[in-house]
Amino acid sequence: MEVVILADEREVGAFAAGRIASMIDKHPATVLGVATGSSPQQTYRVLAEQVDAGLDVSRVSAFALDEYVGLSRDHPQSYHQVIAETVTEPLGLDPSRVHVPDGMALDLDAACADYEDRIAAAGGIDLQLLGIGANGHIGFNEPTSSLASRTRVKTLTARTRADNARFFDDPDQVPRQCLTQGLATILDAHTTVLVATGTAKARAIARIVEGPVQALWPGSVLQLHRRATVVVDEAAAAELELADYYRYTDSQRRLREAERRTD
Ligand code: GLP
Repeated sequence: MEVVILADEREVGAFAAGRIASMIDKHPATVLGVATGSSPQQTYRVLAEQVDAGLDVSRVSAFALDEYVGLSRDHPQSYHQVIAETVTEPLGLDPSRVHVPDGMALDLDAACADYEDRIAAAGGIDLQLLGIGANGHIGFNEPTSSLASRTRVKTLTARTRADNARFFDDPDQVPRQCLTQGLATILDAHTTVLVATGTAKARAIARIVEGPVQALWPGSVLQLHRRATVVVDEAAAAELELADYYRYTDSQRRLREAERRTD
């Protein structure tokens, strides 16, 4: 794993947006995997600035990680709505190229299979942007999710429902189930970039980066990915044992990049 430790949320967002923008520059028809939650919001803001400055996203398509079961598409907290407001509209993506699992489908299993088919038909996800739950979940793959899982129905933990209650008027309104890309679906992405900030994420980051690969900390599955980057601020890096090593390797990477620029 590539671990990048930066000063604060602004730098984390700028770094992740930079990785996304350079992929879109090279491959204008990039298929992005997009996440909800507060963590990637700065990334989207910086990316929107780059679009304003001329980054061409007209051929970019996007797949969301997950969706609540039972919230209509126009519910303000449905991920259809959240992705529209935080990604599709500010970046000016073509809405017909933005996909979110259908949490209102009568046959949820069929909706999950259809989502996997749509990702495959798009040629797979080129870059998957991820946040992380305090309990180590990525997407909505809660602890003990199968490391081989595909898009499916999951039941949310009490911890996740409590964490997400801040987005709802009443904690009881937080749905109990969701559809989420599986851990194996996420591993299929060509590149993954996970962003995390703040002390509430420090334990999860230490577990998934330096702990064993285990279903109890689902994000740890990224250790099996060939191109996984974890970008954190100092607060989220606080429990990493090898933080100095990551800072050193990152300074070497920056040196190499600077040398390439002056060649
Ligand atoms: C949500 C989403 C995840 C997200 C996580 C963290 O429930 N399903 O994709 O990464 O929880 O959210 P936040 O970034 O707001 O802490």
